[in-house]
Amino acid sequence: MKDIITIGSITKDIFLELDCEIIDWPKTPSRKAIVLPFGEKLEVRDTHSVLGGNSANASVTFSRLGFKTACFGKIGDDIAGQEIKNWLKEEGVNPIFVVAKNKKTAQSTLLLNNGERTILGYHGASNEWVKEDIPWLNARGASPDSAKRNLGSKLKAKWWYLSLAGSSSDFFAPLVKFAKENGIRVAFNPSGYQIKHKRREILENLKNIDFLVVNEGEAADLVGISFSKEKEVFKKLDDLMPGIVAVTDGQNGVTVSDGKNIYKAGIFKEKLVADRTGAGDAFGSGFTAGLMETGDIKYAIRLASANATSVVEHIGATPGIINGKDFKNKRFKRLEIKVEKI
Ligand SMILES: Nc1ncnc2c1ncn2[C@@H]1O[C@H](COP(=O)(O)OP(=O)(O)OP(=O)(O)O)[C@@H](O)[C@H]1O
Ligand SMILES: [Mg+2]
Repeated sequence: MKDIITIGSITKDIFLELDCEIIDWPKTPSRKAIVLPFGEKLEVRDTHSVLGGNSANASVTFSRLGFKTACFGKIGDDIAGQEIKNWLKEEGVNPIFVVAKNKKTAQSTLLLNNGERTILGYHGASNEWVKEDIPWLNARGASPDSAKRNLGSKLKAKWWYLSLAGSSSDFFAPLVKFAKENGIRVAFNPSGYQIKHKRREILENLKNIDFLVVNEGEAADLVGISFSKEKEVFKKLDDLMPGIVAVTDGQNGVTVSDGKNIYKAGIFKEKLVADRTGAGDAFGSGFTAGLMETGDIKYAIRLASANATSVVEHIGATPGIINGKDFKNKRFKRLEIKVEKI
């Protein structure tokens, strides 16, 4: 049996390093836009082709930290899908993939300009699940045939790490139910899409989630309370879930609650921000790995923070992920964590 299976999006990310002009543009959340000359050719300084997608990113953390790991998701019948499979195998992750007939493997192109990225995302097969993709989930109660049962038993593990987007999030509730019935502990990083479209369902299922990780904006959207009322946000989440919740805030660090204490930590200062893609996944998976290893929240915060810092120092969401030896580096020895009783 695997220690952990990550379930959700898998992509191939292509980074293009280029210099482009940035202008004020109030129509976007950042109030900025990049300018590319229309109908012209533009030289790209460098390119990087790397594994991405929340579920794949998380699986690399678990494997590098020594856990027996599988990654479950959906790809297309194409070269990008093969490449992803090979990357995961090289990482020691067992890919358990459904192959879509009429959708391509998810591929994003990321324009990287001075450490900030603009993502052109094609989600394709990755987020578009139909119930035939998970017969082991749907067939229960109906007497599944042996092939389906076998797949179902392949998916059993001590932990699951769920990060679902698009129509894959339709299967969140049945997946959590399957986990509960099979004694699988669940770490959960909801996508913005899932929070927007399935907010009530998430709230109803938090009682069966062991670890929830969201950023401040997502936490506020999920409970419907502004994060300026931080205590109320945590109170609502703590009332709904017996597990642990981590709310991240980029370079300001993180606040964690286990319902008894609130933990607050900053970050390990990065040497440079090469690319912040994957910081959230590195934190969420690093924290889960820390919980799996020791059950200790302070240890989990330190491991998660070290992983996130190393990830932002590299281009792409996976190259910077740390292993056990990296974590022993003295730069990751001490992180101030304030603990306050609730
Ligand atoms: N520049 C940074 N340097 C060091 N650590 C960082 C940096 N940015 C983020 N982190 C760490 O990673 C954690 C998660 O980052 P963030 O809150 O940006 O996640 P997110 O919004 O989910 O990001 P993503 O876009 O990856 O989904 C933070 O709480 C912090 O500990
Ligand atoms: Mg995130």
